[in-house]
Amino acid sequence: MADGESIRETFLRFFERHDHLRIPGASVVPAGDPTLLFVNSGMAPLKKYFTGERTPPASDLCNVQGCIRTKDIDDVGDRHHITYFEMLGSWSIGGYFKERAVELAYELLTGDLGLDPRRLYVTVFGGDERLGLPADEESALAWERVGVPRDRIVGLPASDNFWGPAGESGPCGPCTEVFLDTGEEFGPAYVPGGEFDTTRRYIEIWNAGVFMQFDKGLDGVLRPLPFTSVDTGSGLERMELALNGLDSVYDTGLLAPVVRSVQDVMGEGGEVLHHHRVIADHLRAAVAIMSDGVRPGNEGRGYVPRRLIRKCVTLAMGRHQDRFDVAPIVEAVVGSLGPVYPHFAASRSAVLAAIERERDEFGVTVRRGLDRLDKVIAGHDVISGTDAFDLFATYGLPVEITRDLAAAQGATLDLAEFDAALRRHKVLSRGVTDSADRRLRTDDVLPVAVRGRTTFLGYDTLSSEGTVLTLFAGGTTVDQVEAGTEADMIVDRTPFYGEGGGQVGDRGVVEGLGEVTGTVVHDSGGFLHRVSVRSGVLRVGDVVSLTVDAASRAETAANHTATHLLNAALRTVLGPHVRQAGSLVEPQRLRFDFTHPRPLIADELVAVERLVNDWVLADASREVEVMDPSSAKASGALSLEGEDYGQDSVRVLSFGAFSKELCGGTHVDRTSQIGSFRVVSEQSVASGVRRIVAVTRRRAVEYSLEQASSLSEVAATLRTPAKDVVPAARRLVEAAKGPKPAAAATVSGGFETVVNEVPVMLAPAEGTVAALRNEARREAEKRGRVVVLWSGSTLVVSVPGSLSGRLRADEVLKTATARLGGGGGGNAALAQGGLTSVPTRESLVEVLGEAVAP
Ligand code: SER
Repeated sequence: MADGESIRETFLRFFERHDHLRIPGASVVPAGDPTLLFVNSGMAPLKKYFTGERTPPASDLCNVQGCIRTKDIDDVGDRHHITYFEMLGSWSIGGYFKERAVELAYELLTGDLGLDPRRLYVTVFGGDERLGLPADEESALAWERVGVPRDRIVGLPASDNFWGPAGESGPCGPCTEVFLDTGEEFGPAYVPGGEFDTTRRYIEIWNAGVFMQFDKGLDGVLRPLPFTSVDTGSGLERMELALNGLDSVYDTGLLAPVVRSVQDVMGEGGEVLHHHRVIADHLRAAVAIMSDGVRPGNEGRGYVPRRLIRKCVTLAMGRHQDRFDVAPIVEAVVGSLGPVYPHFAASRSAVLAAIERERDEFGVTVRRGLDRLDKVIAGHDVISGTDAFDLFATYGLPVEITRDLAAAQGATLDLAEFDAALRRHKVLSRGVTDSADRRLRTDDVLPVAVRGRTTFLGYDTLSSEGTVLTLFAGGTTVDQVEAGTEADMIVDRTPFYGEGGGQVGDRGVVEGLGEVTGTVVHDSGGFLHRVSVRSGVLRVGDVVSLTVDAASRAETAANHTATHLLNAALRTVLGPHVRQAGSLVEPQRLRFDFTHPRPLIADELVAVERLVNDWVLADASREVEVMDPSSAKASGALSLEGEDYGQDSVRVLSFGAFSKELCGGTHVDRTSQIGSFRVVSEQSVASGVRRIVAVTRRRAVEYSLEQASSLSEVAATLRTPAKDVVPAARRLVEAAKGPKPAAAATVSGGFETVVNEVPVMLAPAEGTVAALRNEARREAEKRGRVVVLWSGSTLVVSVPGSLSGRLRADEVLKTATARLGGGGGGNAALAQGGLTSVPTRESLVEVLGEAVAP
């Protein structure tokens, strides 16, 4: 029996033997890749090698990389899907390509790993018209050459055989995959031209080559990479299944002990059931993620282990495990992976404690949820989507568990209705960010008693009364809060905007009681006001007087409307391909991310600023229409890409004929209230996505004044009028670069004359100061004349050796700057300086007349 460790070593040694460098695997938490939640393949941490942004330690590499894939989470528990897996990977970065990759793959599979060649099938990219890519005949031929017959080479479309990118952007390309025939008990044999069953009988054991040719931008455009690469990856657990002829990955030495521990904990020995596999997989993945430092939470990364653990807890309790002992399962995971990955062993107790905490906090709610589910199911054939959503929002009961438990009692679930309810709530909390530190988090489960939506009055008013429905402090609901405490408060009606759609939540006061330092919307529709109680006592049931901070609301509104105008202006100036990719609206500034393939040039940026300011001056008034989503779409209103609003009605906001967007935010009444709009920065955030930071109102004016004063300072330093700073700065930069031997000055129209018996030559020239100096010296010696050259306001004077007793170059320059303004210096033979304006030939002749005394 091949075990995990022997397979890892066989794979790595094979590639080392073929001159690949073994490199360590990375954390499952990606470093510096905002487009990726978790490392999902061996190539993900190496992305920058493929784009040429970083140089690899060797062109051919191999390693084992822990990966997390949640995309197929619903398939977990079948023969071969798991959430955490180890990927055996090999790469050639800008080195060999298809033919060699295929040779190596075949040699390893049929040689070192000893698989029967007759059981191997391969798939190749079958071409794609939309992508403009032909079928990958080169790979097919390579497979034939090593010995795979044509009738076991299957061409598949891009959906199967075009891999990547990992995350939303990055390297990708067509690929070729190796499948193992696991035998006829798993389905009928493949017949060329027929369907190739990749779910049961034929199991993918190696993506033997992604042939990386493209860099996909966030705008969806495929751009050619500077060089081609090979990226391969094979799931260790599947390889163990294949080599040992097992039924599923759950029977491998890597997972079987974990599955057994689940059975033991649940007292369900004997047959391995689907939920044993799911719990084993989910806790194993949670341990892997948490061993890399992530802790369960409500946002982003932390939400993945939270969901995984919650699902396990619910599955266990739904099967009457009131005391779900997770410790032996965590031990089994660490027992199998700890010897290979020391960080599993090192963080064992901290991870176990965090999982137990999650189980305990969530367990009580789930118990109540399951009781409620029993009541909902009782006597019904169909569970409504609204009930299922309620169980999810109130008790955190995952919908698939509701579905399974209902099915066990012969009831079905209205999934479409559930999805609609979920979408509605996602819209309400859309864009909620940065709330990780809140005592009550937006998707924390609320007790039934405090459910209830908050009515938002803030479109029309900045102050109103509201009745306190709930208070949270110290992690639990309380009846009252005293002075000196912070609490989260839900009221029935509020003028406070709850953070969403990129706009920050309002701040303000609860009259006579304290301050509201922030507002967010809870998934249930209640607005959470973070209140700092300063005096008195705040009680549930009290009617409180709420007032939004008018000044910061006005700033925020100006920035939000300016964001809409910016969006419209970018589309006008750059083109309709521009799509919003994110935004943040605060009182201080606005930040807008959008798709565009390259940096904006200065003229484009100026055009955008000018257009937005024109629209500000147009003093257009705000028009709001509430309509159904399809009419909104038909009206041409901009909405966020891919966003399904799933609501009965949406707000369509327009200003003049230039801006029309779906938006729930708060805005100015008239565009002139924006006052002024200035772009502060423009930069890249990801491939194909640009970010503009801008300011409005007083901040825009301050920004302009600051820029003007910097310009004056620069001009004073350069001793140049402000309008000439650019050429002056250029000259300075050139001078700082030192003499450029190749760049000679070009002298045009030399004028020779004699001043007080001294022969001179005067000529306008072009070139750097260094070039002028060289030229002046050369000409002076050649001609035996004093030579005066000028380029713009730069002046160079050279006196040849033959006239050295007669006059000094620095004296001539001094006379010039005294008469014409400016400064400079030099010696008897050569001097240079900057005048305050461009001299004329006549003025310089006069200077010489004064400098060369008779
Ligand atoms: N990146 C490819 C995959 O994950 C090959 O490793 O399938």
